[in-house]
Order: sequence, then structure tokens, then C-alpha cells
Amino acid sequence: MLSTERLVLRRWRPEDLGPFAEMCADPEVMRWIGNGGVRTRGECANAIAAFERAWDDRGFGLFATELQASGRFIGFVGLSIPAFLPEILPSVEIGWRLAANQWRKGLATEGARAVIDFGFGRIGLTRIVSIHQVGNGASERIMEKLGMRFERATVDPSCSRPVRVWEITRSDWEQREPRATQPTAL
Ligand SMILES: CC(C)(COP(=O)(O)OP(=O)(O)OC[C@H]1O[C@@H](n2cnc3c(N)ncnc32)[C@H](O)[C@@H]1OP(=O)(O)O)[C@@H](O)C(=O)NCCC(=O)NCCS
Repeated sequence: MLSTERLVLRRWRPEDLGPFAEMCADPEVMRWIGNGGVRTRGECANAIAAFERAWDDRGFGLFATELQASGRFIGFVGLSIPAFLPEILPSVEIGWRLAANQWRKGLATEGARAVIDFGFGRIGLTRIVSIHQVGNGASERIMEKLGMRFERATVDPSCSRPVRVWEITRSDWEQREPRATQPTAL
């Protein structure tokens, strides 16, 4: 479990299925994921089971994400293996998906910063990638804000959509700017 100023990132629970399925039935949320199709409740149940298996097998995965203040489930942020893009394997991807009524408050970036610290600091990864479809400006902006670098443009063979791959290495992360405002020497 990780916590940030406004979020709790944790393993999945059975009661996450309802709000997760609601989010994945929203065409606005799913627009830039795979072929852009929405998911059924059954597909979401299978997805949650797969997220939990990944946690058990690898020791990292997608965190169910809730608001610290209310405990409300709002989506996920976390790490996965981008098997849909074989040309960049082996690699570990950071990704995010939040309910539309939570967008544009900086929550995905806040969660992603904690996940990058987890990936490099706790899991010992040497490199993390992130992939967005061309047109998904919000995800691209998050990658920039995280200090990631553009790595390549390619096509997702599973849906033939153009994608852009970004990366951050462990040494980039070690040399990152301190986040809190530092006192300036006079
Ligand atoms: C992508 C997503 C997680 C972003 O969540 P969020 O909490 O709104 O993100 P943040 O507020 O932390 O940051 C978004 C940044 O993108 C900017 N942004 C938002 N929409 C944008 C757009 N259409 N084009 C360009 N920039 C955009 C925001 O202004 C913000 O940047 P800023 O802090 O410099 O102003 C959310 O939109 C989402 O769940 N989308 C659907 C699922 C998805 O596409 N997942 C990613 C697949 S790669």
C-alpha cells in the first residue's frame, strides 16, 4: 500500500468491481485504450483477477486507487508488463485510468510519482516506460511532468493505432529535482 497527500494506492478488493466496471463502461474513459471499446462487467471482473495474479506472481502491479479523504475508489495507477507491444519487451510500464469526474485535479500525476518511487526505490527496477496513443494529450502531459523522455513512435499491433513510448531510467530518477520547495541560499 502507498499513500500520497490525497490518495491511497492498494491491492484490489471485491467491492472495487462495481465502480471499476462503471468507469470502464464510459466511452470517454476508454477512448484511447486499445480499440477504444468499453468493457463489460464480466471483462472487468476478469481484469481485476488478472491484476491480482500479477501482484502475486511479480510483486508489483496496478494499484486500486482511492481518495484518502472519503475512501472512494477512483481507478488505478500502477505497473504492468506491456505485452501488447512485443517490440519493447522486456519492460515494465507505468499506467493510469481514473473515473472522468476525477480528471484534471493532478491526481494521476500524484499517484504516478508515488508509483515511480515504488518501482525504482522498492522494487529495484532499472527502467520504466509509458505508452500513450497519439491524441491522448492528458497522458502525454503526465509523462512529461514525470520527467520521462520520448523513446519511440510505433503502432500498437493489437489495434493498429499509432502510439508513443516514453521512458525514465533509474539514474534519471536518482538525479531528479527535489519536489518540495527548497530554501534558496542568499
Ligand atoms: C489520463 C488520465 C489518467 C489523466 O488523469 P488526471 O488526474 O486528469 O491527470 P493530471 O491532472 O495529473 O494531469 C493531466 C495533465 O494533462 C493536461 N491535459 C488534460 N487534458 C489534456 C488534453 N486533452 N491535451 C493536453 N493536455 C491535457 C492537464 O492540464 C494536466 O497538465 P497540467 O498539470 O500541466 O495542467 C485521465 O484522463 C484518464 O483516466 N483518462 C482515461 C484513461 C486513459 O486514457 N488512460 C491512459 C492510457 S495511456
